[in-house]
Amino acid sequence: MITQRQLRFVVKPVVFLACLLPAALIVTDTFELTGSLGANPIEEILDRFGILGIQFMLIALAVTPLRQITGWTQLAQFRRMLGLFAFFYVFMHFLTWLVLDRGLFWPDIVEDIVKRPFITIGMIALVLLIAMAATSFKRLRQKMGRRWQKLHNSVYAVGVLGVWHYWWQVKADALEPAIYAAILSLLLGCRLFKRRKPRATVLATQ
Ligand code: HEM
Repeated sequence: MITQRQLRFVVKPVVFLACLLPAALIVTDTFELTGSLGANPIEEILDRFGILGIQFMLIALAVTPLRQITGWTQLAQFRRMLGLFAFFYVFMHFLTWLVLDRGLFWPDIVEDIVKRPFITIGMIALVLLIAMAATSFKRLRQKMGRRWQKLHNSVYAVGVLGVWHYWWQVKADALEPAIYAAILSLLLGCRLFKRRKPRATVLATQ
């Protein structure tokens, strides 16, 4: 068992740096220090941030089931950090689209959001993520009470919207979004199973 001190001063900073590494790689690849972004650098940056957004969302969603399976309760202390990294990567994905891809040209931006359904879905997911990130502080959690839990339960909806958004714009091979959809279904299944279990136990004892 890791002590609270080790967790706070060693494990958490290491995990934080590891989560930041993919972003650092995008920066160093941009300047061709570690690799390159290929023939279409803007699309590559957009896609990398988008994929990282989905991956971090799934990792954050996996924390609770993993904690329940392993009994390692300290895992719960990483959930907020991982959730905020999911938000960070999705937001960078959005900024890449807004600034580099669309060049902050508002008529095109509005038209895309209104007329391209996969972007509309992405925007809905992003708005929910912003609301969750903005209310992720302890004080607000206490202040909001049950409303906080309700809002933060929409993380599953964000996951579904994110994977749907990805699947919708895939042109040829849907294997990758299908893999993410399968992982998300598994995590949702764990959540539903956990919800139904106490009731089943109650019925069994009646
Ligand atoms: C939870 C929110 C979101 C997630 C998880 C997400 C994730 C992704 C992923 C995984 C891809 C595909 C990457 C690839 O092909 O390798 C993608 C593509 C894309 N996303 Fe998002 N995204 C989100 C929100 C948004 C938002 C808010 C916008 C813009 C308003 C946006 C615009 C785009 C665009 C333009 C593409 C590229 C489509 C193409 O290559 O033709 N996404 N996104």
